[in-house]
Formats: sequence, structure tokens, C-alpha cells
Amino acid sequence: MVYYQTSYSVKAIVFLCICSLLGCGNASLESRSEDVEGVPATLPGELKFAHVIFRHGDRMPLDPYPTDPWKNRKYWPTGWGQLTNRGKQQHYELGKWLRKRYNSLLSTRFDVDQIYIQSTDVDRTLMSAQSNLAGLYEPVGEDVWNDQIKWQPIPVHTMPEQYDAIIGAKADCPAFDYYLSILQESAEFKAKLERFKDLFFYLSQNSGRPVKTFMEAQYLNNTLFIEQLYNKTLPVWTQKVYGGADLTYVSNFAFSINTYTRQLARLKTGPLLKDILTRFNKKIEKQLHPDRTVFVYSAHDTTIANLLNTLNLFQLHSPPYTACIMFELRVDDQNKPLVSLFYKNTTAEPLPMDIPGCGVSCPLEKLFQLYEDVLPVDWDTECQRSTLTMTYEEANLGAATAMLIGIIAALLCISYGLMVYYRRRNYTMHTSYGQMA
Ligand SMILES: *[C@@H]1O[C@H](CO)[C@@H](O)[C@H](O)[C@H]1NC(C)=O
Ligand SMILES: *[C@@H]1O[C@H](CO)[C@@H](O)[C@H](O)[C@H]1NC(C)=O
Ligand SMILES: *[C@@H]1O[C@H](CO)[C@@H](O)[C@H](O)[C@H]1NC(C)=O
Repeated sequence: MVYYQTSYSVKAIVFLCICSLLGCGNASLESRSEDVEGVPATLPGELKFAHVIFRHGDRMPLDPYPTDPWKNRKYWPTGWGQLTNRGKQQHYELGKWLRKRYNSLLSTRFDVDQIYIQSTDVDRTLMSAQSNLAGLYEPVGEDVWNDQIKWQPIPVHTMPEQYDAIIGAKADCPAFDYYLSILQESAEFKAKLERFKDLFFYLSQNSGRPVKTFMEAQYLNNTLFIEQLYNKTLPVWTQKVYGGADLTYVSNFAFSINTYTRQLARLKTGPLLKDILTRFNKKIEKQLHPDRTVFVYSAHDTTIANLLNTLNLFQLHSPPYTACIMFELRVDDQNKPLVSLFYKNTTAEPLPMDIPGCGVSCPLEKLFQLYEDVLPVDWDTECQRSTLTMTYEEANLGAATAMLIGIIAALLCISYGLMVYYRRRNYTMHTSYGQMA
């Protein structure tokens, strides 16, 4: 097809022209959904494998602020931070959308050798994954086990947060903490905080809780965001800041901090990116056992923002509910593996992202080169800090100090002993002189 030779943007223009000629408008959406793969069909190669990373759905506030008129638990029926019915519905819809998109990769029946789902160990992400799978795998035929329920159980894997270095990215990494503190102590960062000093003061005064960091401002913004979404009248003081450019900026900016430098990105999100890229590699080399076609990660807004920023594709914003990143692997006629990235954060069909320095369809090996700086070679080792970068207490130099004090004490004792000895000798000599005199 001629289409395969034309560049993506040219195709988009051709599509738009044909569209305006035919006056499709709304109709174009429908015709696209019939096109099994939608936009991806225009990318070169055949779709072989996909990684899907999404944020959970609509939830309740995490933690109201002290002066919050809506802080009573009775206003938030499912509980702090929990998924709501809206959230379940949103993920069910996304699951249906994923079914359409990946119908060529996944059989209608659940097959454990095709898909693997992993979630952070948090109620709302576990429940989102399950709601999503209800849309992706509605039971049909022999899989109907109870005709009252159009649902079947599908396994969702997880691991405790403190061990999760990949999807939750909560596992302890002292080197990350160190580099983050260096960033926060930098002149650039301090100047930025200073710029919003008045805002932070205003938020602290009115919310009854100190707001000193971008993250704390983001939490407050998020509570207000959810309360507004739930039609709760916000206190008058919020009108001065909520929805305004400053609070929105500060709140969005907070999402970029954990991956602000390449070093931070490498330690925070490198393991996830490496997981994805090396699995693509295994797939190509026929080393993936079982030879699956879809991996799903159920996670958070921070995961989405961190991953986009690590890929140098983050535009400051708050990833909305069910925001979804897709890494798709295609193989062309020459068996060459090509990766495309999609970010779906609205109900519109996502377009392939322009991978910096590589475009919308990037050879897998090129991707490894492009992101070499953020792919950890040995994360565990890289997370350890060399003693040179540590403060006195952190380095746990207690033992060394004790030894040093011991040595000094011993030297003092010896010299004192020698002094006493020589004095005595002198004294003895003097007395003998005296006696002689
Ligand atoms: C902060 O508030 C703005 C609306 O003013 C909203 O668009 C954004 O999603 C909020 N950010 C978070 C993290 O809740
Ligand atoms: C808030 O009010 C709007 C407009 O009346 C409505 O569409 C929306 O569903 C309400 N939100 C909730 C959570 O009830
Ligand atoms: C969606 O993502 C784009 C690209 O990162 C961003 O510019 C935009 O603000 C996002 N919109 C929403 C609603 O999240």
C-alpha cells in the first residue's frame, strides 16, 4: 500500500482533507471504531505485543485538610482514597476499548499464556484492574459460569509496596533520596519555592496544615478538585487560589520532581522502562516464556507522569483518571521490531507520540540507545550510596569513630604511662642526688 510509505503527518492531513470533503465530523469516530485497530493500522508492521500502563479510576479524597468542611467520613461513602462506582465504570469502559484495540492479540477467552496483569498493592489500583478486566473479558459461551453475572475472575498480581521497585516504585533506594535532597537544596529549586512563598503561606493559613512543598500543595489541590467534582461547595478562601494559574502550575509541577534529573528518573522509573524494553527484546528473540502478547500495569498518576517524563515526553499536567500509556511492538516485513508509544488521557482516540530523536515508529534497538541514560544496569547496586556522599550519621561511622577514640585513648594512656615512668625515674635520680648531697 502507498499508505505505508507516506509519513504519518501526511496521512493525517490526507485523512483530514478526505474527512472535510465528505463532511464526516462525528461519523469519522464511528468509522474508526469499526476499523479494528484505528490509528495504529497506519503504522508500519504488524502488531505483536503491547504493554499497557494505566492510572486507577475516580476515587475519594486521600486525606482532607484540618479546616475542611467536608472532612467528615460520612460524605465519602467508599472511604479515603477508595475507588468509587464511577471509577469502576471508567475502567470497565477502558477495558472495552482495550478489547477492541487488542482483539488481534487476545483471544475472546481468557488465556493465561497471553496476558499478565500486575497492580500496585493499593485497593484502588487492584479494584481498577479488576473493573478493567470485566470489560476486557466478558465471559461468553463455555466461560459463563453463572448466568446472573456477566463477569469472570481474572488473576491480578501484586507485591507488597516495600518490595516493589518496578510498578509501585516504592522500594527503598537511598541513592534516590540523596539525589532528591540535592535537587531540593539547589539554588534553582529554592528560587522556585520562593516564587510561590505567598501562595504556600496562604494555603497553610487557611487549610490549617503547613504547606511547604510542591507535593503538599498538590495534595490540597487534589482534595479540592475531588470535592468540586462531587459538587461540594468549597470554602470562600479557596476561590482566591483554586483553579488559578499558580496553584494549578505548582500542583502539576510536583509531578515532575521525582524524575527531574536523569539520575532521579533512572532510579525511580528506570526499572519499569527496563522491564518493558527488555521484555520486548525477549519477545523478539523468542525468549519470552510463556510467549505472551499483552502486559498490563495498574498504577497511579505519579507512575504515568514519571514514565512520560523519563521518556522526555511529559507536558506538565495532572494525569486524569484512567490515563493510559501504551507501548506497542510491531514487526515489519524484514522482521524489524518497531515501537510506538500512545498516551490516552481523553476519550478521543490517541495518536502515536513523537519519540524524541526517533519519531512515531522507533526501532527497538534505537530506543535502548536513546534511553540508555535512564536504564539502570544494576538497580540494587546503584541505589546504594557510596560513603563519600553520605553525612556522618548516615554513613553509620559509629564503629569507625569508636575505634578512632579507642586508638587515641590508648595513645594517651601510653604517653601518660611513659610520662609517669620518666618522672618517677627522674625523681628517684634527684633524690639519690639529694641523698648524695
Ligand atoms: C489541580 O486542580 C486543577 C483544577 O484547578 C485540576 O485540573 C488538576 O487535575 C488538579 N490536580 C490534581 C493533582 O488533582
Ligand atoms: C455534580 O453536578 C453535575 C451538574 O448537576 C452533575 O452532572 C454531576 O453528576 C454531579 N456530580 C456528582 C458526583 O454527583
Ligand atoms: C493530555 O496529555 C497531553 C500531552 O501530555 C497534555 O498536554 C494534556 O494537558 C493532557 N490532557 C489531559 C486532560 O490530561
